[in-house]
This record gives sequence, C-alpha cells and structure tokens, in this order.
Amino acid sequence: MQLTNVFVSFLLAAAVSAKGDNKAAKGNSTSASTGTSVKSQCASIAKLTKMTNLAANETKLADKLHNNQTAIDAFKAKITSSQTKLTTLSSNTTLMASCAVIAAHEDAVDSCDSIAKMEKMIATAANTTKLNTEFKGNATKISSFTAKASAAATKLSALQSNSSLTDFCSTQTTLASCKTMTQLQKEIAMAGNTTALDAKFKGNSTKITKFTAQAAKAQTKLDALMSNSTLMATCASLSKASTTDSTTAGAASTTKASLAGRIESSGGMITAAVLAITAAMFML
Ligand SMILES: *[C@@H]1O[C@H](CO)[C@@H](O)[C@H](O)[C@H]1NC(C)=O
Ligand SMILES: *[C@@H]1O[C@H](CO)[C@@H](O)[C@H](O)[C@H]1NC(C)=O
Ligand SMILES: *[C@@H]1O[C@H](CO)[C@@H](O)[C@H](O)[C@H]1NC(C)=O
Ligand SMILES: *[C@@H]1O[C@H](CO)[C@@H](O)[C@H](O)[C@H]1NC(C)=O
Ligand SMILES: *[C@@H]1O[C@H](CO)[C@@H](O)[C@H](O)[C@H]1NC(C)=O
Ligand SMILES: *[C@@H]1O[C@H](CO)[C@@H](O)[C@H](O)[C@H]1NC(C)=O
Ligand SMILES: *[C@@H]1O[C@H](CO)[C@@H](O)[C@H](O)[C@H]1NC(C)=O
Ligand SMILES: *[C@@H]1O[C@H](CO)[C@@H](O)[C@H](O)[C@H]1NC(C)=O
Ligand SMILES: *[C@@H]1O[C@H](CO)[C@@H](O)[C@H](O)[C@H]1NC(C)=O
Repeated sequence: MQLTNVFVSFLLAAAVSAKGDNKAAKGNSTSASTGTSVKSQCASIAKLTKMTNLAANETKLADKLHNNQTAIDAFKAKITSSQTKLTTLSSNTTLMASCAVIAAHEDAVDSCDSIAKMEKMIATAANTTKLNTEFKGNATKISSFTAKASAAATKLSALQSNSSLTDFCSTQTTLASCKTMTQLQKEIAMAGNTTALDAKFKGNSTKITKFTAQAAKAQTKLDALMSNSTLMATCASLSKASTTDSTTAGAASTTKASLAGRIESSGGMITAAVLAITAAMFML
C-alpha cells in the first residue's frame, strides 16, 4: 500500500467534513465545552459500560467494594439510574462508529509504543557495554533483564508480523518528524527576529544568548531531517492537503474520512487524518 497516498486522500476528505462540522459547531458553541464532543461521549460510553459490567459480576463487585453491602447497593442504584443514558448513547450508530475508530486508534498507538519499548529492550540486552553501564555490572540484574528481553522477543515478532500495524507505526513516526520540523523552524525563525526575541525575553541578553545558542543546535537537527527527501515529500503533501479547497477534496471524500472529520471537528486536521488512516487500515 502506498501510505502517503492513502494519507493524503483521507486528509483531504477529513478536512472537508471537519469544515462542515466547524460551521455547525459555531451555531451551537456549547457543544464542546459541555462535554458532548464525540470524544467525551465515547469516554462516557466506555466508563458506563465498564461500570455496568462490574455491577453484573457479584464476585468482582463485592471484592472491589470490600464486601460492604451499603456501598454495593449504592453502586448498583447508580448504575440502574445511568442505564438510560448508556442506552441512548449506544443506540446512536454514528457515534458508535466514531468511538470504534477512536478505540482502534488508541489501541494501535499503544501497540506502537510497545513495539518501540521492546525493540529498545532487546537492543540493550544484546549490548554488553550498555548492560554493564545500565546495571552497574550487577550480574543478577543483568540476567533477569536479558530473560525479560527474550520473553519480549516472541511478543515483539507477533506484533511486527502485523503489517497494517507496522505501516501505521511508521506513519506515526513520520508525522512526529513533520511536527518536529515545524517546531524547529519556528524556533530558528524566532532566533533570527530581534523584535520577537526582545519581546519574549523582555530584553534579557543572557536569556537571548542562551536561546540563540539552542537555535543553532535546532538548525543542525532541522538540516538533518530536511536532507531526507522521502520525509520532506510526505510532510509537504500533508501541509498542501490541509489547505486545499473543498472542491478538490470532495472527490476524495469517503466514509472513513468523514468519520475522522467528525471526531476531530474542532480543526485538528492532522489528527483527523491519522484517525482516517486508522479506519482505513484496521476497520473498513
Ligand atoms: C467475575 O469476575 C471474576 C474476577 O473478579 C472473574 O474471574 C469471573 O470470570 C467474572 N464472572 C463473569 C460471569 O464474568
Ligand atoms: C460502607 O460504605 C458506605 C458507603 O460508601 C460507607 O459510608 C461506610 O462507611 C462503609 N462501611 C464500612 C464498614 O467501611
Ligand atoms: C449521534 O451522535 C453524533 C455525534 O455525537 C451527534 O452529532 C448526533 O446528533 C447524534 N444523533 C442523535 C440522533 O442523537
Ligand atoms: C493488527 O493490529 C491492529 C492494531 O492494533 C489490530 O486492530 C488488528 O486486529 C491486528 N491484526 C491482526 C491480524 O492481528
Ligand atoms: C552499545 O552501547 C554503547 C553504549 O551505550 C554504544 O556506544 C554502542 O554503540 C552500542 N553498540 C552497538 C553495537 O549498538
Ligand atoms: C545485585 O542486584 C540484586 C537484585 O536487585 C541485589 O539483591 C544484589 O545485592 C546486587 N548485588 C550487588 C553486588 O550489588
Ligand atoms: C527518511 O524518512 C522516512 C519517512 O519518515 C523514514 O522511513 C526513513 O527511515 C528516513 N531515512 C533516513 C535515512 O533517516
Ligand atoms: C518578528 O516578530 C515580530 C513580533 O513577533 C513580528 O511582528 C514580525 O513580523 C517578525 N518579523 C519577521 C521578519 O518575521
Ligand atoms: C536575565 O536572566 C538571567 C537567567 O535567567 C537571570 O539570572 C538574570 O537575573 C536576568 N537579568 C535581568 C536583568 O533580569
């Protein structure tokens, strides 16, 4: 799969539906602040579902509440009174579809984190120098760590055999690099702008000198990132897509993307695109 293309076309479509939602949100500006955003509704559903399941398991509930019958009865009463809310929310299929995308996205991000962590662990376990430094030469600690690392290797290869997941993780990494570049560029621009520096540091030359020195390091890091033409191409297509007008974008509109656009209705374009990718890769 050509990831960049998937990414860009969904970003386009997500941008359109998000624009539509922004208009709607302006007419009803309380919707986000009162916790009725899609994300907070999904969080409510998840919490209520978990509580309902707990209330249905006498053993688990008694255990959780230390066999306190008063507390158990109070908890059950609370659950009963919240069932209407749960039923209403759950019967909204549009909402449930959005929640599924959010959940899948969170799952995938967690898996990417696990992969990164396990890769690091396995690399450390294979590096005697590093092991000795990290555990101050304590053989007991080292052998317990290497045992853990070999156990992780099995889990790691299972995750890595999921190519949708590894594609997703590499997109996440690319996105993070694009964001880093934007941040570095801002820092460098600031360091070259005397007016802005004076305003930010209230004319304190010590602080300004320190910031400028940091910006020089930022420049080195930025140059390294920018020398990667693959990365540059992806970041460029992303920023182009997020400013493309709706006529072009309309053609790329898909269910997946409009899902993502609804979720990120407050203009989180990149995040919406990421959610669209999640939907494209894992769900639809
Ligand atoms: C209830 O919870 C316990 C753990 O606390 C679990 O072992 C058991 O399978 C659960 N029962 C049901 C019916 O889910
Ligand atoms: C049982 O739970 C109730 C309600 O949460 C609480 O007021 C009471 O102190 C608890 N009793 C004991 C013995 O912990
Ligand atoms: C379903 O949920 C969505 C997202 O929260 C909301 O925009 C829509 O109005 C809801 N539909 C109904 C019938 O409540
Ligand atoms: C691959 O990973 C994704 C994201 O964690 C998951 O939804 C999907 O079920 C996995 N596929 C397989 C075959 O394990
Ligand atoms: C092992 O770790 C040391 C110290 O952290 C590092 O300098 C070295 O490059 C590593 N060796 C390999 C083969 O990765
Ligand atoms: C090595 O680590 C183990 C386990 O943490 C500890 O019990 C032991 O005292 C350590 N040995 C030395 C020489 O520090
Ligand atoms: C360039 O960027 C791409 C996309 O982020 C990445 O997969 C690749 O490893 C990078 N290449 C180098 C040499 O860093
Ligand atoms: C420098 O910063 C000031 C204040 O933030 C801004 O108004 C101005 O446009 C900047 N100049 C340049 C050349 O970017
Ligand atoms: C400038 O900032 C430095 C470092 O934060 C501080 O120690 C110093 O007191 C500041 N100087 C003035 C004139 O505020």
